[in-house]
Amino acid sequence: METHHQLIIGDAAAMKALDDKCVDLVVTSPPYPMIEMWDALFEGCNRKIGQALKTNDTGAAFELMHAVLDAVWREVHRVVKPGGVVCINIGDATRTIDGRFRLYANHARIIATFIALGFDQLPAVIWRKPTNAPNKFMGSGMLPPSAYVTLEHEYILIFRKGAKREFNRPKEKARRRQSAYFWEERNAWFSDVWYDLVGTPQSMKRNGARDRSAAFPFELPYRLIHMFSIQGDMVLDPFLGTGTTMLAAMATGRCSTGYEIEPAFKTSLLQQLPDLPAMANEMVERRLARHTEFVRERRQRKGDLKHHNHVYDMPVITRQEVDLFLAPVRAIQLADDDCFKVVLAPPGPSIPAEKERNENATAETTLRKPAKGHQLKMF
Ligand SMILES: C[S@@+](CC[C@H](N)C(=O)[O-])C[C@H]1O[C@@H](n2cnc3c(N)ncnc32)[C@H](O)[C@@H]1O
Repeated sequence: METHHQLIIGDAAAMKALDDKCVDLVVTSPPYPMIEMWDALFEGCNRKIGQALKTNDTGAAFELMHAVLDAVWREVHRVVKPGGVVCINIGDATRTIDGRFRLYANHARIIATFIALGFDQLPAVIWRKPTNAPNKFMGSGMLPPSAYVTLEHEYILIFRKGAKREFNRPKEKARRRQSAYFWEERNAWFSDVWYDLVGTPQSMKRNGARDRSAAFPFELPYRLIHMFSIQGDMVLDPFLGTGTTMLAAMATGRCSTGYEIEPAFKTSLLQQLPDLPAMANEMVERRLARHTEFVRERRQRKGDLKHHNHVYDMPVITRQEVDLFLAPVRAIQLADDDCFKVVLAPPGPSIPAEKERNENATAETTLRKPAKGHQLKMF
């Protein structure tokens, strides 16, 4: 099994390399309007934004920054297939301008755009991101009424283009069954509040890229890709940054394309590739170990599970999980300039049986070293 990945350094407002209706899933996080670290980028797109900020015309600045993003959202609408899903990680902004503190509701503005474009909004996830910053409480302290509620969450907005996707061909149906996730993962992942994802360290001086990467944690696109696509699908991130979505697509047997306007981020992606096979395979091992632990506890409380996954020879709760397969990454190859090929292992005898896993594994000890051959192989 192989997947293909392409990094394009360019403006996602014109994704000329992508045909209409060629993308199954978008996972992305744009620059956040009205957050100071992104002012320069937005001002570079439209000089009026700089003027609006200088004259404290915050309403105009907010609207003009979103107009820059709207151009990308229109392209997203063009390239997504009917039935395809778009997941957008976005935070609101708080800012004091000309002595006036206020909230800029980026999530609401993006929802309005997507509804106007004709997408159906699906229930969103609130990503709870507690902060320990000493200045997290703002305003008048212990004296009412001018203290402000702390923003400690971001959104993962979820939209679908038209009616839900149908799977009619036998091969597609088989790929879908193989792409299942465990019952207990479903229960956590499809909860509307995610407490368990920690942010990613922001410092990023290397490569001449901006000094804060604004990267989201690997687990965020990893989950969303499992939730809303099947193996072999095409995943797009129009605001690729350090490449987290592409890495997660590589780790999950999906193809991907990413647009990034800042050329320095290419080096950042290249630097991460050698570690990807080990990281992807550790993730698989960790999930299997967690499931083994889940089965042990569940058996103790409720007796034997009804169904059996034949790939891993392990009990599962539902019939939908019997073909579930988490393909290990064998190698990454540089196929062409900025194009990568990922070779994945098929289901086969190298997968340890339940008995072996139970003997070796606890949730903590299953993180094995990657086998030989799980290396970046360039040619
Ligand atoms: C919030 S960051 C994305 C971070 C990414 N999720 C990660 O994990 O590294 C937004 C990225 O979009 C890029 N960007 C902004 N406008 C763009 C555009 N019009 N086309 C392509 N990329 C753009 C920025 O340079 C920045 O790297």
